[in-house]
Amino acid sequence: DVHAGFPPDFAFGAASSAYQVEGATKEGGRGPSIWDTFCEQHPEKIADGSNGDPGAGSYWLYKEDVKRLAEMGADVYRFSIAWPRILPDGRGKPNEEGIQYYKNLIQELLDHGIEPFVTLFHWDVPQKLENEYGGFLSKRIVEDYKNFVDVCFENFGDKVKHWITVNEPLTFCGGGYGSGALAPGHCTPDLVYQGQVLECPVGDSLREPYMVGHNLLLAHAEAYKLYNEKYRSKQGGKVGITLVTNWYVPYDDTILDKEAQQRALESNLGWFMDPIKFGDYPFSMRSLVRERLPSFTEEESNKLKDSFDFLGLNYYTARYARNRVFDVNYQPQMYSDDARFDTLVDKNGVPIGYAETNSWVNVYPRGLRDLLLYVKERYSDPEIYITENGVMELTNNTTNAQPQSNLSTNFLQGVENHDIYRSQYHANHLQELVEAMRNGVKLKGYFAWSLLDSFEWSSGYTSRFGLHYVNNSSYNKKSNDHHPNLERVPKQSAIWYKWFLNVARAPLPV
Ligand code: GCO
Repeated sequence: DVHAGFPPDFAFGAASSAYQVEGATKEGGRGPSIWDTFCEQHPEKIADGSNGDPGAGSYWLYKEDVKRLAEMGADVYRFSIAWPRILPDGRGKPNEEGIQYYKNLIQELLDHGIEPFVTLFHWDVPQKLENEYGGFLSKRIVEDYKNFVDVCFENFGDKVKHWITVNEPLTFCGGGYGSGALAPGHCTPDLVYQGQVLECPVGDSLREPYMVGHNLLLAHAEAYKLYNEKYRSKQGGKVGITLVTNWYVPYDDTILDKEAQQRALESNLGWFMDPIKFGDYPFSMRSLVRERLPSFTEEESNKLKDSFDFLGLNYYTARYARNRVFDVNYQPQMYSDDARFDTLVDKNGVPIGYAETNSWVNVYPRGLRDLLLYVKERYSDPEIYITENGVMELTNNTTNAQPQSNLSTNFLQGVENHDIYRSQYHANHLQELVEAMRNGVKLKGYFAWSLLDSFEWSSGYTSRFGLHYVNNSSYNKKSNDHHPNLERVPKQSAIWYKWFLNVARAPLPV
């Protein structure tokens, strides 16, 4: 029953997140999140000084989005619910307008035969909770997060059957509390790290990432438990988490670099995956991070063990991992130093992968297969969705993004929808999924990142990941233009995806 390599029930779609696409950050009763505050207070940390307004305007244009998904033939759409749109103060009385927005979106999807996959936390902590107790730095967030997801299960769970508790805890911890490049922008003040001065008013890059990771895990476990106890029997859905990692290739073919590769995977993926599978952090982390790594009580550990029905994996790129030579005086500066490997993008001057962008994605599709096989082996063969995979064009409307890529020339010449390399990127990664399934990986679906060009965090609008171009050139921050036109234009890749889905679903000739 296999069709062109993909089983007939394999789900194809695209993904997005609330802060990146919705816009309307001050409309519909939404409260502020740490991302609103971060963009406002630190425009210098966003490549074009922008923020989540207008995003792709999906708060107003969600019907357009669903039309685009349906046009491509998508089975599924992954989006996130903005916590401060549901609970403007983080807790308390739900905002009916916010609830109605997501009900409308969900209904619109179902009316087009598209199944919603809902992320509950894609980094938008309500500012109120950040002010009150430091957001995810405090264990108090666990109770508030639990109440938030309760409101979501209660209101949307009759129609939503796939929930993702947390998106990329690794990135949230590392960007928000290690380097300070993402909200809330904490790092060790005035730390000079790898030749760069990290400027953060507060933080501790050696401790906070682990504290935040710990609380994210506890929040995840509570959500899973709540669903089991209160909703599973009547709603019959599934609850998972979305994790991200690079694939790592040993720099040299030596025992030391192979061990460095393992530590790299353990400190990126295993940091979160080991606790939700085995109830504790990887041994390599416990022995290297030691007293800076919080520990779980027995009760917490039991709650975490096997706390997922499926695993979401985000995969973009690969790096070399090279062992750091042992030194008794070793002084880590940053949480990521703990695993004692260097991350390298090239070897003898040759970049990893068959193509590079002028940003962080090097195209290395084989890494996706290798990652899936690693996960199957280490974590007893879980059910997996690829919840993100994609590549960007960089626009040159900022000095931070110089055109030099072999991938983005068409875009830079102004032919905004001729993204031929993007189709190739997706095709090559999809081919690796077929190989992974032939090797027994329980793969259930694939989400391209992203449906639309959107607000790409610290890159602002200079980095476009969409299968659809979003024309935001007429948007003027200073005017009161709250309903800009933000036309969606299918790029070549959207047209290719539609064609591909037709082929992938065609029954084999008999
Ligand atoms: C995530 C990702 C996305 C990014 C994508 C491209 O957290 O899921 O950061 O939001 O847009 O990974 O960088």
